[in-house]
Amino acid sequence: MSQGNDLSAFWMPFTDNRGFKAQPRMFASAQGMHYTATAGHKVLDATGGLWCSNAGHCRAPIVEAIRAMAGELDFAPTFQLAHPKAFEAASRLALLMPEGLDRIFFTNSGSESVDTALKIALAYQRSRGQGSRTRLIGRERGYHGVGFGGISVGGIVTNRRQFGTLLAGVDHMRHTHDLARNAFSRGLPEHGAELADDLERIVALHGADTIAAVIVEPVAGSTGVLIPPQGYLQRLREICDRHDILLIFDEVITAFGRVGKATASERFGVTPDLITMAKGLTNATVPMGAVAVRREIYETVVGNAGPGIELFHGYTYSGHPLAAAAACAALDLYAAEGLFERAIELESYWGDAVHSLKDARHVIDCRNIGLIGGIELEPRPGAPTKRAMEAFHRAFDQGLLIRVTGDIIALSPPLILEKSHIDEIFGKIREVLATID
Ligand SMILES: Cc1ncc(COP(=O)(O)O)c(C=O)c1O
Repeated sequence: MSQGNDLSAFWMPFTDNRGFKAQPRMFASAQGMHYTATAGHKVLDATGGLWCSNAGHCRAPIVEAIRAMAGELDFAPTFQLAHPKAFEAASRLALLMPEGLDRIFFTNSGSESVDTALKIALAYQRSRGQGSRTRLIGRERGYHGVGFGGISVGGIVTNRRQFGTLLAGVDHMRHTHDLARNAFSRGLPEHGAELADDLERIVALHGADTIAAVIVEPVAGSTGVLIPPQGYLQRLREICDRHDILLIFDEVITAFGRVGKATASERFGVTPDLITMAKGLTNATVPMGAVAVRREIYETVVGNAGPGIELFHGYTYSGHPLAAAAACAALDLYAAEGLFERAIELESYWGDAVHSLKDARHVIDCRNIGLIGGIELEPRPGAPTKRAMEAFHRAFDQGLLIRVTGDIIALSPPLILEKSHIDEIFGKIREVLATID
């Protein structure tokens, strides 16, 4: 029989299983800005868990709400039945969305939110008599989770190449990363709005009447913090409007204050037709995702359907009571503590700290927006990703949790952090970079 300390059974996601199991690093508990490792030392969380613990860890009001709901209503189906908390959570979330996106579909993760949004886009096109619009357009370096829909529109090669031919009828726009012109930009980089015109190339190639939707992350996170060039998202919106194509913003990491507003759409003043979310929705306490949908899309799909079920899609746990309770409590806490505004207030201090690493060893770019930081390292010759991975391990051992992707350090701390935490994060990163080759 396997023992509690046997690491062999758990096939860990997105992990070097052999490396981890030879030298495990684990957390035992968490509170506020810190984890405590099983080895006993405290670890300052500069990544909000995985871009998700926006209010910090084990916050009492959320913990209490989950506890109470677990004892009151552990589960209720939402297929042809429901429970009040799911409606409350949807109404509360709708209030935070850009005007018009006030219909909410619940999922359990970002990946499911993406697949749901893509399916709603297809169902909508068909429902309004545009059934030839079946193509889905993503972007190189995009990350949209790991469902077949998500990896098809996604543009991270390693996430695609083990899995065959994926969805048919998908194409990708060029990514927006341009170190030659934009290195060390603060906030939105100056150059690259014209990259949105790549959508025109795709439209010309396939015909607008074959394209259902375009999906992008307003700030690309998992690929290593690519911040949209000034005017880029506006231009993408214009091109979608010109060709009657739906625009989906994948806000799984950007929603709930990460860029200083409820959504990146609000921060950047560009309203898509659908928004995918997860992570911060429940402060990551109970898995939950959501898709906010423009009302007219809901009304078309629902209104044009025959009698009975209008959209043949949903998850056993859509609107799960524990998740709904956690979402309501998290949204309350964000509002009570003014955490979205706090991200704006700290943005400049944070940005200074990110850019203070400009002259640190190995650094070839620093970028920032809201409480997000990206620090790109020169890859080690012949061994890409190794330098960043070493930095990750060394930082952990010194009591700092960072995230690395390729040779980029990506930072996304809980929004409750203090200036002293910012000083500690960047002081430690500088030290770590100085000590690795
Ligand atoms: C933009 C984006 N979309 C989708 C996902 C997938 O979310 P999940 O891991 O909850 O499925 C992520 C996860 O990091 C993400 O960053």
